[in-house]
Amino acid sequence: MTESRFPNLIGGAWREAEQWSENRNPSDPSDLVGRFACADLADLGDAISAARQAQYAWAAASPQTRFDVLDKAGDLILARKAQLGDLLAREEGKSLPEAIGEAARAGMIFKFFAGEALRLGGEILPSVRDGIKVEITREPVGLVGAITPWNFPIAIPAWKTAPALAYGNAVVLKPAEVAPGCAWKLAEILVEAGLLAGVFSLVMGPGRVLGAALCQQVDAVSFTGSTGVGHQVLAAATGAGVKVQLEMGGKNPMIVLDDADIDLAVNCALQSAFFSTGQRCTASSRLIVTDGVADRFVERLAAACDALVVGDPRAPGTQIGPVASEAQYASVRGYIDGAVAQGARMVAGAAGSIPNQGLFIRPTLFDRTSPEMTINREEVFGPVASVLRVADYDAALAAANATEFGLTAGICTTSLARAEHFKRHAQAGMVMVNLPTAGVDYHVPFGGRKASSYGAREQGSYAREFFTTVKTAYQSA
Ligand code: UN1
Repeated sequence: MTESRFPNLIGGAWREAEQWSENRNPSDPSDLVGRFACADLADLGDAISAARQAQYAWAAASPQTRFDVLDKAGDLILARKAQLGDLLAREEGKSLPEAIGEAARAGMIFKFFAGEALRLGGEILPSVRDGIKVEITREPVGLVGAITPWNFPIAIPAWKTAPALAYGNAVVLKPAEVAPGCAWKLAEILVEAGLLAGVFSLVMGPGRVLGAALCQQVDAVSFTGSTGVGHQVLAAATGAGVKVQLEMGGKNPMIVLDDADIDLAVNCALQSAFFSTGQRCTASSRLIVTDGVADRFVERLAAACDALVVGDPRAPGTQIGPVASEAQYASVRGYIDGAVAQGARMVAGAAGSIPNQGLFIRPTLFDRTSPEMTINREEVFGPVASVLRVADYDAALAAANATEFGLTAGICTTSLARAEHFKRHAQAGMVMVNLPTAGVDYHVPFGGRKASSYGAREQGSYAREFFTTVKTAYQSA
């Protein structure tokens, strides 16, 4: 294996393939990140049978064994966060500080779930009948298929793989084709951490070849990605009676009220709309602003947008990198052109200077938009946000909830009463007060409502709902 060739990990062995895909740096198309093996259905079948064999031994291993492997994987990720961050910035385009931060988060997720392996308890209840004891315990769900997106190419593989392993499951991971390098490094680290061979397999390649089979041949599928693919996963998995968990899109609102601290509100909007090039399902894309503060807010935010440094994410000082792929570039440009055609007023963005190579789009802000415009209804997944002006808090809350999505929702206000009201009435799985809508902790539940999510929550101890199944045992005393 030369440095630039990345084979699949099937049943504990690195395996070459007939097809390879070339991945290039979105900042510089002449930079080849690597050649990645494309698994075929035979590779997937072998990964699944190896996982089924190995899972029994892994589930039977002591919690200490599972703790040790996960904790070591966490240590290795943390020790290599600079190299992993560099690879992440090179293959996906996130700025280096954000990329290193994401790698560190992946390491902490493994360490958190190492501890969860020790904390998986049960309950004992008296029976309603005399002389009988009832025990409620949790067992692994079995074999988990994890399908992960390109925008968090190490954190999301970590937050599906770590809990699955902690609770005694085997995992077949299929990372996104756009950025598989970090998932490959994670596979290498799991081998080095001493994970029993076969318990974890990495199958890289196109979802259209591998996706349906993966969804139908495992016991549970955890998916993060687009709404369209999420629905295909749902149909394939439920058709085969497979447990499923989906994290999909968002059209997250951030409300700014007249009484908000304006510096804080501008910073929250800037962070959550444009950082990571807006390629986060938690990004604030609808900025819902009351009339009394709207002119000042828009002027300040537009100036802050124009001051953002866009360029090679690995260059010192860069704040915003490229979008991740040519398809994404074309899609985001299409949304920007569409917004202009529908009458939105561009107050920061496209005209500003950008490096002339690579898939760069300047942070783009639209003012005077209306709820029916496409940019306020569909997820853009790029550095684009729109301002919706409203009369008061009631109108802002109604606008915030008027979407098919429900992942995150934010409010900037100095009113405790409004903040409390919003926490209770926002139709979203996560609510942020005086904070960006993106950037979440790794030890608490993550997930949304409505069209954003389906199934049990991810992360924190709540992850056990998805990755375990409950057993009720009755015993005569
Ligand atoms: C974050 O905002 O910290 O794909 C995480 C996504 C989300 C993760 C966001 N699943 O953007």
